[in-house]
Amino acid sequence: MKLAIFASGSGTNAEAIIHAAQQQTLEMEIALVVTDKPKAKVIEKAERLNVPMLICDPKSFETKDAYEEQVVRELKKRQVTFIALAGYMRLIGSTLLNAYEGRIVNIHPSLLPSFPGLDAIGQAFQAGVKITGVTIHYVDEGMDTGEIIAQEAVRIEETDTVETLHQKVQAVEHQLYPNTLQKIFRSDREVE
Ligand code: GAR
Repeated sequence: MKLAIFASGSGTNAEAIIHAAQQQTLEMEIALVVTDKPKAKVIEKAERLNVPMLICDPKSFETKDAYEEQVVRELKKRQVTFIALAGYMRLIGSTLLNAYEGRIVNIHPSLLPSFPGLDAIGQAFQAGVKITGVTIHYVDEGMDTGEIIAQEAVRIEETDTVETLHQKVQAVEHQLYPNTLQKIFRSDREVE
């Protein structure tokens, strides 16, 4: 399986996935990191880790379809077979969804269906819930919807701040995402 990781931000999840692949606890080959943000911090991380990078700014295209067609062309060129969204802050359109049907997963920092959308950690903190967590799910046309693959809970203590909660959630993400991708890889091999 050849994996492309999509990220718009700092790329700590992308980094954790790449590390797992380099240490072979994840048996997928990381073919490409894709970003839609020309200044995203993930770019320097991918370069440092020697993973090819595609920077594709949707603003340079007239339509979302045209943007996604270009991305799909680049993915096919590198024989990408699976996509992991890791902080890619953009809804996936039908062009990309149809090209990789059932082969796109996303990570979200809450126990979905609670707290979809932006700033899920802040939303959970503000709501005063005692337990939040991390979800990995297949991607469909909705925002943070799609079949759930894995979830892990994170307890919110009285002493937590948004910052400490953020650290706790991200620590869980960095384990759960590579481990879940490895399980997907294993079950895919069994089907073959
Ligand atoms: C992660 O916490 C991820 O769960 C979240 O963005 C962050 C990216 O961090 N994704 C979403 O909120 C998707 N709706 P990173 O760039 O350090 O990996």
